[in-house]
Amino acid sequence: MDALENIILRNSPRKLTLPMPSEDQMKLVYKAALRAPDHAWLRPSRFIQVTGDGITKLSDIFVNFAKEKLKEEDEQKLEKYKNAPFRAPMIIILVSHIQDHPKVPEIEQVMSTAAAAQNILLALKAINFAGMWRTGAFSLNNDITKYLGLDEDHRVLGYLYVGTPDGPDKKIPELDLDDFITKWE
Ligand SMILES: Cc1cc2nc3c(=O)[nH]c(=O)nc-3n(C[C@H](O)[C@H](O)[C@H](O)COP(=O)(O)O)c2cc1C
Repeated sequence: MDALENIILRNSPRKLTLPMPSEDQMKLVYKAALRAPDHAWLRPSRFIQVTGDGITKLSDIFVNFAKEKLKEEDEQKLEKYKNAPFRAPMIIILVSHIQDHPKVPEIEQVMSTAAAAQNILLALKAINFAGMWRTGAFSLNNDITKYLGLDEDHRVLGYLYVGTPDGPDKKIPELDLDDFITKWE
């Protein structure tokens, strides 16, 4: 597929199923991820690839976090959290390892990982897979960092649910470019 078409047609399918990308395909995907812009080449991005029994491990972490930190007691909600990671055959946990740097503040390092996430989504589409970025209660806080077994200088930016789209592509809304672009000429 043409590179621009791949970008313009990218979308986030809610339903993702098998097959998932192979190890060799994921190597290409991570190579693309690591070409994200990165001030001072600090290499902040880390990816935890979760499949198979790892999904059960993540599900247990979500439920424990919900009980202990969110003080959730509603059985229906706990069931929802338990089932959440099983919505795709692979999950990539997006992590930014923040370093102290005189010229590169934390926000720039986090943005580099966000750019890496987009590269992952585009690379997946280029090889006929797809992903959806989700955050929610299990992201962007220091407690979840600990629950995932990471040191406190790591930020959890969310979860890319990855697999093969299940069902037809959704209709992408037409946007009026003039609503978004100002030209200084
Ligand atoms: C940082 C970030 C976090 C997101 N978190 C969620 C989420 O928790 N739940 C959700 O349904 N969509 C979430 N989304 C939106 C979806 O990933 C997706 O972009 C949205 O459904 C629009 O679909 P599209 O990407 O096909 O345009 C998030 C997007 C971003 C960029």
